[in-house]
Amino acid sequence: MQFDGEKIMIGGIAAAEIAERYGTPTYVYDEQKIRANYRRAYQAFAKHYPDFQFFYAVKCCNNPAIVNILRQEGAGADCASVNEILLAKSVGLSGEQVMFSGNFLSDADIQQGLESGVIFNLDDISILPRLLKFGTPEMISFRVNPGYGKSNVGEYVTNAGPGAKFGIHPDDVLKAYKMAKDAGIKRFGAHMMTGSCITDADYFPFITGLLMDIIGKVGRELQIDFEFIDLGGGLGIPYKPGEEALDLERAAEGTAKMFKEKCAEYGLKPPQLKMEPARYFVGNAGYLVGKVHAIKESYKKIIGTDIGMNVLCRPAMYGSYHHIYVDGKENHPRTALGLCGQLCENTDFWVKDRELPADMGEGDIVVVENAGAYGFGMSYQYNGRLRAAEVLVNNGESVLIRDRETFEDMVRHTHVPEYLAK
Ligand code: LLP
Repeated sequence: MQFDGEKIMIGGIAAAEIAERYGTPTYVYDEQKIRANYRRAYQAFAKHYPDFQFFYAVKCCNNPAIVNILRQEGAGADCASVNEILLAKSVGLSGEQVMFSGNFLSDADIQQGLESGVIFNLDDISILPRLLKFGTPEMISFRVNPGYGKSNVGEYVTNAGPGAKFGIHPDDVLKAYKMAKDAGIKRFGAHMMTGSCITDADYFPFITGLLMDIIGKVGRELQIDFEFIDLGGGLGIPYKPGEEALDLERAAEGTAKMFKEKCAEYGLKPPQLKMEPARYFVGNAGYLVGKVHAIKESYKKIIGTDIGMNVLCRPAMYGSYHHIYVDGKENHPRTALGLCGQLCENTDFWVKDRELPADMGEGDIVVVENAGAYGFGMSYQYNGRLRAAEVLVNNGESVLIRDRETFEDMVRHTHVPEYLAK
């Protein structure tokens, strides 16, 4: 995002022009910024460990145009469900370019996952015997919960440690790989995902060390090689102005060093190092463009916009901070204001008290920053307020990559029994 005088520009286009052309609310993604984020991260890790690969966790922002950008940059896909596998396949990713990291899978999930031929990453030892009923994959990976997790977003997205629902307890990891080896599986990988949005660079080598101590012993004991070790996502971004960014170089250098040391300590044939970040690629490349529709002076002054918690749920769900800019008024005198969406829920009053331009008025365009990750993908249709449009901008050009929902979308797939329609 840049400023042309007081005008907010996204990827070379005025936010007001986007609002005019596509309506509001609209998610806007800056293609060049996604590519730059990817390249910066890839170079940081590959410099210290050349046999390195990223898988993009498509849950973060699943628009096929965005997944294609990351595919073009060289990423595979990390998928949480069979439908995400289908999405990855629809953009040309298949086989070992796709990792299936679902949890609490149904038999149908297992069967379809197996048939899809992607890398199966099992979240629990109990899934393996169920999977073996349907077939024996050539390769298997297990998701390990190394007993420790972390996240700037808080407990909500701390995806490992004793309080998390994910991964295999360290005590069961050896048993899991032994069961897989005994079943005739020949190729192995290992995985963990310990948290999301972590800006503490030293955490990445620390958690890598924990995983490698578990996996190293398994490799030694069972005499198996690991073709890859996947450290999960978690590379964080700052959300608040002035918040310290992740020192990517330090995280990458420390992680690679720890990884190599542990491989040597346990005599592991060096596996490919994988990571599957998502927020780091798309988070700060996505913006939400909305409009002020009404202003109320009640117990306090509240600015009503079309950016409700159904459009961007992170503030209501996690108490997350998202910075807000007001087009044309950023340099105007500020005062403490509230800001909300149009839903019949008080959690939709997602900014209670923030210094915003005092003269905010009806028709103003607001831009919410860092909305690219877990924004559209977590949106829903509550109150008949439908999902936003998505637009991609690239060096001054814009293109619609998802239509705004309509009433027909809202009622699609519903059925009214005949006797009720009388
Ligand atoms: N791999 C797996 C298996 C995951 O579950 C996730 C995210 C990722 C990779 C990507 O993680 P990242 O690099 O983006 O941290 N909705 C929350 C975040 C939930 C993360 C879920 N898993 C939020 O809005 O902060």
